[in-house]
Amino acid sequence: MSTHVAQSAPQPGFGTPGPVAPGITLGISAAVGHTPLIRLDHLFPSSGIEILAKLESVNPGGSTKDRPALAMVRDAFEHGRLTVGGTVVESSSGNLGVALARVCATYGVRFVCVVDSRTNATTVATIRALGGEVEMVSEPDPETGDLLTARFRRVEQLLEQLPGAVNLYQYGNAANPGAHAAGTMAEIAEATDHRLDVLMAAVSTTGTIAGCTAYLREHSMDTRTVAVDAEGSVLFGGTAAPRPLPGLGAGVVTDISRTVDPDRVVRVSGLDCVVGARLLARREGILAGASTGGIVHSLGSLIPELAPGSRVAFIVHDGGVPYLDTVYDDAWVQQTLGADADALVQAAASLQTSARRG
Ligand SMILES: Cc1ncc(COP(=O)(O)O)c(C=O)c1O
Repeated sequence: MSTHVAQSAPQPGFGTPGPVAPGITLGISAAVGHTPLIRLDHLFPSSGIEILAKLESVNPGGSTKDRPALAMVRDAFEHGRLTVGGTVVESSSGNLGVALARVCATYGVRFVCVVDSRTNATTVATIRALGGEVEMVSEPDPETGDLLTARFRRVEQLLEQLPGAVNLYQYGNAANPGAHAAGTMAEIAEATDHRLDVLMAAVSTTGTIAGCTAYLREHSMDTRTVAVDAEGSVLFGGTAAPRPLPGLGAGVVTDISRTVDPDRVVRVSGLDCVVGARLLARREGILAGASTGGIVHSLGSLIPELAPGSRVAFIVHDGGVPYLDTVYDDAWVQQTLGADADALVQAAASLQTSARRG
């Protein structure tokens, strides 16, 4: 399934569009995908590694989730599960919510998004601005102590209350990894002539890493996959603990994660994410979210293990603007993670030093 073919796919509810002139795209969904792949020479200088960043943050919804949102809604329409005037109820840490709010707006579908108290305020406001309704879960599930489980319970309640409402279930929907296989990874592979040593992605539903892995196996590429997970996430055998930042890790083992076996799993702390995100912003001018910061930190630690000349690609999962009050705010970092601005600069410098070769 392609994630960037909306030009030829009339969207239900808005009549049949006329022909589109070359150079003009029809509808915002046509702008999903075909994101830039950027070589980064300043992030880890003298590392002897070629580092490529796949800028999913430039998708119209600002994140990696635009592809699966579009693919899951299209799939639901194609299989008759969803029609114009229908309702989607979905749990999201934020980015899928923004993406679905946009897709549902263009498909004439009501959207109710269940988020939790970790979701960035800007993200909640964006979902509402795009016409989505927001259900905020503030209390963890009493049995498991987990916010994601509490979100799932709220989704179940809403599905009972809203007749005909559909849950796309991003945690197990095959269209989620499918969008990354056909879109994200296919684009990286084509741009690198199918020569890539390491692919790094952050994990939550694990749709990105699962889809990318499926493409790599299907095309017999011997690329090693690195899943960057949060400390406190239960994915891939992790132990549950509170996680301070949204978008990274999961409090339940997702169905998709049972189908994927990354070559390496690296766990990062909230502070690692902040250090990595700030380094990427200040060395490469790319303002990214917390999970991408976690990837950058993991990459710095892995470089000494990589053969000189290795080519590494990583996903920039989302942009940093929604994180200006957290990841990029010294007072928040001090209060929540217990590190001052000087300590962050020193941590970034030592990460860069450890990644130098020769
Ligand atoms: C910022 C961010 N990074 C990484 C991920 C992980 O993506 P996936 O759900 O495909 O594992 C997500 C998913 O919500 C995200 O929002």
